[in-house]
Amino acid sequence: MQLRQLRSDEGLAYRDVRLRSLREAPEAFASTYDEEAAEPDEHWVDLVAHTADAMEAAMFTVERPDGSHAATTFVRVSSTPPHDAYIGAMWLDPDLRGPRAASEASWADQLLAAAEHFARALGSRAITLWVAESNPAAHRFYERNGYRPTGQSEPQPSGITAQLLHKSL
Ligand SMILES: CC(C)(COP(=O)(O)OP(=O)(O)OC[C@H]1O[C@@H](n2cnc3c(N)ncnc32)[C@H](O)[C@@H]1OP(=O)(O)O)[C@@H](O)C(=O)NCCC(=O)NCCS
Repeated sequence: MQLRQLRSDEGLAYRDVRLRSLREAPEAFASTYDEEAAEPDEHWVDLVAHTADAMEAAMFTVERPDGSHAATTFVRVSSTPPHDAYIGAMWLDPDLRGPRAASEASWADQLLAAAEHFARALGSRAITLWVAESNPAAHRFYERNGYRPTGQSEPQPSGITAQLLHKSL
């Protein structure tokens, strides 16, 4: 099992894992399975190629030994000072959630740490993300990792209401 950055030629593999995440956790995301499943192949190929080639953005995955993807997340850093960062599309296959053996950081903690590390390396001092109000597991996960509510909350296109969380890096 390996946590790594997504490569530019992995657009269609990303589509598969992203659509799986939208089916598995529809209550967690601002867009829906139906919306994203309707996107043509070029959308995914371009999205991943542009992100992987961009200086200020990255997508991370956990790759299983058989080469399949078991996680998604992306991070984008504003090109203008103070280079605030934004994290989105955070998802892990259910069998990789929760604590691992005593000395190992959970996959979720590692995924988030990888995105934060990327942001810090580009000079970010703050990071934000949206989380659905009705997603207590995610709220506990982010709170444990130092994210706090900003008080801002907005309805999303998928029908959920999401709260904006913030962390100083
Ligand atoms: C959000 C997410 C990445 C967090 O990863 P995680 O491994 O579950 O994180 P944690 O181990 O901190 O668990 C968070 C909570 O989920 C629950 N949980 C975690 N693993 C679990 C498992 N294997 N079985 C049952 N509950 C579990 C626990 O209640 C835990 O709360 P606690 O800290 O009070 O015990 C992951 O739950 C996920 O992919 N969820 C679906 C998508 C999603 O909600 N994304 C967030 C978008 S903003």
